[in-house]
Amino acid sequence: MKYFSFFLFLALLSSTMSAAGTGNDSFCNIIPVPEHYEHLDGSFIIPECGLTFRISGSEQAASSDELESFADYLKKLPMGEAGSRKKASVEFRFMTARQSGLREESYRMKVSQDRIVVEASSVSGAFYAVQTLAQMTYLWKLHEISCCMIEDSPRFSYRGMHMDVSRHFRSKEFIMKQIDAMALMKMNRLHLHLTDGAGWRMEVESYPRLTEFAAWRLQRKWSDWVSSGSEYCEKGTPGAYGGYYTKADLKEIVSYAEARHIDVIPEIEMPGHSEEVLAAYPELSCSGRPYADSDFCPGKEETFRFIEDVLTEVMEVFPGEYIHIGGDEAGKNSWKTCPDCIARMEREGLEGVDELQSYLVHRVEEFVNSKGRRIIGWDEILQGGLAPNATVMSWRGTEGGLQAISSGHDVIMTPVSHCYLDYTQDAPFREPVSMGGYLPLEKVYSYEPRESSMSDEDMKHLLGVQANLWAEWVKEDSHAEYMYYPRSAAIAEIGWSRPENRNYEEFRARAGRFTALLREMGYNAFDLSEEYGNRRESLDTLVHLASGCPVDYKILYAPNYPGTGDSTLTDSFFGGWSYGDGRWQGFRSDIDMVVDLKKNTPIRYIGVTFMQQTQAWVHMPVIVRISVSEDGISFVPVAEVPNDVPGDCERLLFKTFQAVCNVKARYVRIQAENLREETWLFTDEIVVN
Ligand code: ACM
Ligand code: ZN
Repeated sequence: MKYFSFFLFLALLSSTMSAAGTGNDSFCNIIPVPEHYEHLDGSFIIPECGLTFRISGSEQAASSDELESFADYLKKLPMGEAGSRKKASVEFRFMTARQSGLREESYRMKVSQDRIVVEASSVSGAFYAVQTLAQMTYLWKLHEISCCMIEDSPRFSYRGMHMDVSRHFRSKEFIMKQIDAMALMKMNRLHLHLTDGAGWRMEVESYPRLTEFAAWRLQRKWSDWVSSGSEYCEKGTPGAYGGYYTKADLKEIVSYAEARHIDVIPEIEMPGHSEEVLAAYPELSCSGRPYADSDFCPGKEETFRFIEDVLTEVMEVFPGEYIHIGGDEAGKNSWKTCPDCIARMEREGLEGVDELQSYLVHRVEEFVNSKGRRIIGWDEILQGGLAPNATVMSWRGTEGGLQAISSGHDVIMTPVSHCYLDYTQDAPFREPVSMGGYLPLEKVYSYEPRESSMSDEDMKHLLGVQANLWAEWVKEDSHAEYMYYPRSAAIAEIGWSRPENRNYEEFRARAGRFTALLREMGYNAFDLSEEYGNRRESLDTLVHLASGCPVDYKILYAPNYPGTGDSTLTDSFFGGWSYGDGRWQGFRSDIDMVVDLKKNTPIRYIGVTFMQQTQAWVHMPVIVRISVSEDGISFVPVAEVPNDVPGDCERLLFKTFQAVCNVKARYVRIQAENLREETWLFTDEIVVN
């Protein structure tokens, strides 16, 4: 067995002590929380001249290329002046997994008074030890570290962050900056959503119109672009907004990520979310016309030629195991009447459009597998039958993931309920306008990917978790960072740490320190100390005359937004910031319902609150009519309350349509007029006093 050994002399400035803590900070100040930590007496004092590193160990644990790259990385850490040659203060000992008992990505680190020893069986393990040290020293600003013994390893092999660069193009530098933050959080997969209806973002030599045309538009703001018809423009048009990455840019990103032990997973959307491709190459759609379809035509061979040509170029640039092929939200409507699609379904014996989608995914998977790679797809790729080797990214809840696991497929969990960082993280009235919805840090952190139904065998197929940030409403880079941090740190901890080591109160304290650190590094992280929390009304109950009374729905609520069912509007609970929190009840229709107070009752007040969130098509009713009755048959009007909330405001708004009266009645009727067929009404409680 061969051994190697070399020194690096690097000096870390041990200048000012940060306000965020001292060298005696408890270990738990890092994110993600390690598997085992044992506090030892004493402290390691970083010498005046900084740290010196020594790398030694078995060649079987790490190749010389990997070691070179690790040594290069160490050299680039933010250092002061180089120190004088002396005994190494940090020693990285590479050992085989058998010698050390350490898995890939794991490390053991002992901080003693006179030195720090790191053991690892892979360079990624040593790299993560450095991330731990970086956080412990508050990015090398503290000169003292409490002595301790750490054994640490990831719970999941996939700890991902997703970036939507289609809706708004982001610079290469921005992506690299986020890669640095990911590394600090021990995340190891960057999912780049490179294509979507809002713009194609990768240079493809065989299809130049993708970046000469489909990568540009005239309107920056999402709602302006949508309301002006979602069209593209030629590159170079005055005012053209957008952009794309050259292959050289992408290779630079990939290698920057690789040095930080992060795989970049490119996503090329198909068959849906492909409006931009079909505007540039309309012959790939069912109609053959631009701006007519959003899905590729799987009836045509040209479509497969396009996909294979593009993926060939994608695989030249991205060397990793996975290629993400999208697969979500295809409308498939044009397929039902397209002669090419119909002919394909007949030829292939396919029963309907779901199976036609599955045909496309199978074919693309075969192609990708033939190049030695694997596909990931959103959970809709289950429709019509899952391709044999596909990995499923479960986003519409976890059911798709569970179904895929039960048939032996690998799964990444990213349920919209906990992992979609495009929802606002605090009181929407003081947050940048976003998608709507409310996803505070605590809710993200509460996610546990292992469901009670999963066996140990199932867990082998659960690769991990991912934080997603869709960017329709996230135009500015600074806003993107604000949405990522600290919530992606919660996902990082879910992906790395053992569930028994996770505790929200402790995490919140660590996340406060971590966001302060990120802010010092120049990230626009959300300041947790300013968090307001959920809508105050939702934190308490209010008992009133209609509490617990039955509601007779003349028009039933929408099945996908039932709240808690028939009792929602008289349960004394109010909704929070999100129409999806289970306290709000949704209607894609007018409202007509009658509350039965059970006996004739003197009434002085009737009120019903609605929410407006225009990004999600949730609007105020045009008018609310309130009437009462003693017999439930003939109703006497009490009030007609018209809406006076502007319908074009993008902020979350609430309005209580209410009446002060002086009547005696048993029945209270609420009728509300929906704005349009496609808009929603959401209400949380009918209050009677
Ligand atoms: C998705 O959010 N449409 C995957
Ligand atoms: Zn077709």
